[in-house]
Amino acid sequence: MIGIIGAMDIEVTAFIRAMSDTSTKIYSGITYVKGRFSGVDVVVAKCGMGKVNSAICAQTMILMYSPTVVINIGVAGSISPTVKVGDIVIGKEAVQHDLDLSPIGLKRGFIQEMNTIFIPCTPDITIGLKGAAENIDCTCHTGVIATGDQFISCKKTKNEIFENFNALACEMEGASIAQVCALNKIPFGIVRTISDNADGDSASDFTKFLHEAAQKSIQLITAFIGNKTDVG
Ligand code: ADE
Repeated sequence: MIGIIGAMDIEVTAFIRAMSDTSTKIYSGITYVKGRFSGVDVVVAKCGMGKVNSAICAQTMILMYSPTVVINIGVAGSISPTVKVGDIVIGKEAVQHDLDLSPIGLKRGFIQEMNTIFIPCTPDITIGLKGAAENIDCTCHTGVIATGDQFISCKKTKNEIFENFNALACEMEGASIAQVCALNKIPFGIVRTISDNADGDSASDFTKFLHEAAQKSIQLITAFIGNKTDVG
C-alpha cells in the first residue's frame, strides 16, 4: 500500500479520480481515499496546510492503513536561484526552517528528539522518484526541502532559508510528514513542483501556476507507481 499526502484538493484530486475500487473514511476531519492505481493499492489524503495538519494525517494514515511507503506531493516555492517555476524538486532531506531554539543554544532547525537538523528521505524512494522524472518532460532537482508554517513571500526570509539550510524549495508539510514517517520507520519521499519564487510576487504566481504545478507532481507520482508495476 502506497500512501500519498497532499495539502490541497488540487494536489490530489486528479490522482483520486484516476483510482478504481475506491472507499472513503474520515478521521479527525481528514478524508482518506483507499483504492487501486495501476494495479497497486494506494491510500490518498488531503491533509490541509501546515505542519500540524500534515503530522496528524501522516500518523493516522500509518496507524489505520499501514502503508509501506508514504509520499508527500504538491507545490512549493523556489528557494535556490537554480530552481525555476515549473521545475520539480525531489526531497533528499527535509528540514523545519521555522523550528528555532537558538536563544537556548541550539542550531536552527535542530530536532532534539531526533538529534538532527535534516531528516533524510528514504534513498530508494528518492532514486525511484528521480527515475520516474526521466519519463516526464521536466527539469528535476534533488536536494533539501524546507518546511515551515509560513507562506514565504519575501526575499529576506527566502535568502535566510537558503543560507541556513541550502534548501532548494520551501513548502509547509514535507518535513513534518518526514518526521512522523521516520519515527514510525516508514519509508517516505517528497515530490514538489515549483509554483512561485517565494518572493514579493509569490502570491500572484502561486495563483497563476498552482494548477499546472500540482498536475506535474501528480504526473510524476503516476510515473513512479507505473515504474513499480513494470518491475513487478
Ligand atoms: N507552497 C507553494 N509556494 C509556497 C511558498 N512560497 N511558501 C510556502 N509554501 C509554498
